[in-house]
Amino acid sequence: MRHLLTLEDWTPAQIAEAVAMARTIKANPEKYADVLRRKTLCMIFEKPSLRTRLSFEAGMNQMGGHAIYYDTSTSPIGAGKESIADTVRTMCRYVDIIMARLFKHEDLLEMARHTTVPLINALTNFSHPGQILADLQTIEEHKGRLAGLKLAYLGDSFNNVTHSLLFACPKMGMHLSIGCPAGKDYEPDPKAFAAARADSAKNGVAFAVTHDAAEAVRDADVVYTDSWMSYHIPKDKAGERKKIFGPYQVTAVLMKQAKPDAIFLNCLPALRGLEQTAEVIDGPQSVVFDQAENRMHMHKALMLILLKEAGTIQG
Ligand code: CP
Ligand code: NVA
Repeated sequence: MRHLLTLEDWTPAQIAEAVAMARTIKANPEKYADVLRRKTLCMIFEKPSLRTRLSFEAGMNQMGGHAIYYDTSTSPIGAGKESIADTVRTMCRYVDIIMARLFKHEDLLEMARHTTVPLINALTNFSHPGQILADLQTIEEHKGRLAGLKLAYLGDSFNNVTHSLLFACPKMGMHLSIGCPAGKDYEPDPKAFAAARADSAKNGVAFAVTHDAAEAVRDADVVYTDSWMSYHIPKDKAGERKKIFGPYQVTAVLMKQAKPDAIFLNCLPALRGLEQTAEVIDGPQSVVFDQAENRMHMHKALMLILLKEAGTIQG
């Protein structure tokens, strides 16, 4: 059974297939209006969401299926009354596919051990693969290609979005540069770092982690940042983190280090005046709402690919 747990598990061909499928669906959504008729998606949420929840739910509806929002805070699992294993084994008797947004990545792996239907990681503290697949679609749409481009990521790098970029970009032949503060709480997880180093060596592309924001962004085609206060970070860390990440704020001055036609990405939610200025996110280089839209096209593509491989729908 094929799942989407991290992009480490997916080959370049599988990533390219998802991007191509999302592009095809976006160009001709009517053609896919009935392909998931009577199919059901269960969406397990331990954390908040705007984009992931709505784009999966709207996407499922547009393809003729149904999506169930399953909030763990009002469920036996959240009340400590039922195990992950029993929850998932039960769920599989009702639904065709599951997506989960969880705190612990280990809990997602536990779900994967027990599910008999495809499972999609809709964000854990460790990784956010569906986001990065939609981001690759967005980059390709604006730049016409992925291979050979330089992506610079600024800010919190012990971070799910960063880790998924590390798993995907070097694998797809992109140069990757991370600008972040020193320290294990701010730099990429060693496993994701090692994967990026191995893939960049294999594909002959540059990969660097630097503490100099301007150096990270130099000549980039894509500048990417994410929240300094991810959903799982305690609120009382806000003041301390604002100081630590301050030098990595994406400003108009910093954007000048990138190529003149560079695009700006943020997976959202975003706070103006923190990880980027309003001038940048609301400026002409920003494509953050194309990026948000592509979540839906990508989620449709992922559900189709995984359900076909599972034999639930015909190819
Ligand atoms: N980018 C993203 O996953 O957004 P949500 O938290 O709103 O789903
Ligand atoms: N790193 C962010 C991504 C939000 C979509 C978080 O985990 O909150």
